[in-house]
Amino acid sequence: MNDSSNWRDLVVSFDEAGLEQLRRGAGAAVNSLATTPAGPRSRLSPHEIHELIATLDVCPDEGVALDAVLEELGTKVWAHGVVPSDPACVAHLHPPSLLPAVVSELAIAAANQSMDSWDQSPAATEVELHLLGWLAKLIGLPAGASGVMTSGGTASNVLAMTLARSAAAQRLGVDVLKSGLPPEAARWRVLCSDQAHFSLQRAAQQLGLGRDAVVTVATTAAGQMDLAALDTTLEGLTTEGLEVIALVATAGTTDLGVIDPMVEIAARAQRHDAWFHVDAAVAGAFLLSERLRPLLAGLELADSVTVDFHKLWWQPFNASALIVADVARFDLLRVRSDYLDRGDELDGVVNLVGRSLDTSRRFDALKVVTSLRTLGRRNLAAMLEQLVALTNYAAARVEESPHLALVAAPATVSCVFDAPGFDADALRDVQQRLLLRGEMVLGRTKIKGRAALKFTFMNPLTTTDDVDQLIALITDELAASGASRRS
Ligand SMILES: Cc1ncc(COP(=O)(O)O)c(C=O)c1O
Repeated sequence: MNDSSNWRDLVVSFDEAGLEQLRRGAGAAVNSLATTPAGPRSRLSPHEIHELIATLDVCPDEGVALDAVLEELGTKVWAHGVVPSDPACVAHLHPPSLLPAVVSELAIAAANQSMDSWDQSPAATEVELHLLGWLAKLIGLPAGASGVMTSGGTASNVLAMTLARSAAAQRLGVDVLKSGLPPEAARWRVLCSDQAHFSLQRAAQQLGLGRDAVVTVATTAAGQMDLAALDTTLEGLTTEGLEVIALVATAGTTDLGVIDPMVEIAARAQRHDAWFHVDAAVAGAFLLSERLRPLLAGLELADSVTVDFHKLWWQPFNASALIVADVARFDLLRVRSDYLDRGDELDGVVNLVGRSLDTSRRFDALKVVTSLRTLGRRNLAAMLEQLVALTNYAAARVEESPHLALVAAPATVSCVFDAPGFDADALRDVQQRLLLRGEMVLGRTKIKGRAALKFTFMNPLTTTDDVDQLIALITDELAASGASRRS
């Protein structure tokens, strides 16, 4: 099939012959997945995988039939990947994909709209705007709020901080994109909790503010931003003559899944005339559930919100959004160009490049819309509630285990724990041995310096029996280890 000697058959077209080629190619791609491991990962070591992939002849002089290429990739790549739908794949915010999204990916790639300019994506531009308008409304932002899709939570947070920086400069009458940072920028600070994602530091370093411009506020034992510590920090910064240009709350921290008190943080942001950004990459999906939505009180007060569809909305990478309450703020980063964003378009044309740090960009909005329409809000809410219940179940099992101890009560879908008597090296050995044997992809992190293991439950098909097995595997591994003791 798809004989490479006739390259004309390999350029996607939409006549009947082209669609037939696509159907057959899609079938072969699906077949290549039959080699995925039965567990969460293959048993090959990092070096063995390196050697195996090195045998791929990336670009032979003469092409190989697509069927054969896909088959080889099945045995070399998919057979040695991780399997996010496996119940023992619990390390990261790494979900199994929804079928409607996966099949949409084929259509997205085949149709290949580019989201930078309307003339490359007419209906697609409207779909993205429609989706983001819906999301803005769901958040409870003012009418007209909208945004842009990005490649991930990191990109969304960087974009939000770019807007916050431009807004701070605008207050001084400075166009930071044109003139660079004003001298006052040395006094600008961004505040977030000590559990916030590192992409905020990355943003500050990229934006010329420097990593040290990010001041982290201490968290409570549960992992929420401590409001008393926030007030002390704000007072201290004001006394030092420093200016808080952005206050960032996290709705679902990376490790503990904790949601910061957003109403209270928003009030402080307003008092300090600072941009209020919420990184809701993790818990933004809770908007879909009537039961979980109250946890997001205050999200509607944000100037900008990061939502990652490729986390608890079960979308394949990449799919994230930055929603901005006042879309006019995007003008702060607009770069006109003679060929793309010309400013003299047909009435009704929107060129999304004006909102984005990317130029060419995928039509990821389509897979999200396909998934939301196919599943419907009630199903999605039930899946989220199921994961939260599963996480609470895991926490209860950890609590009653004589060998394990919770680091904090779970807040969303992660359960972080350690093993009293076992030090950081012992926990690392447990995690690495389970990974190497292909039995579990387990999370490992540090919370305020305390080494810990982590389950992140992203698969709504995982059962309480699966959780029991995961805990049994870990306790067996701890028992078997000749690990060094803390005390
Ligand atoms: C709270 C939070 N924000 C942002 C990110 C970054 O998201 P991405 O990996 O999509 O860039 C993560 C990643 O886990 C996260 O947990």
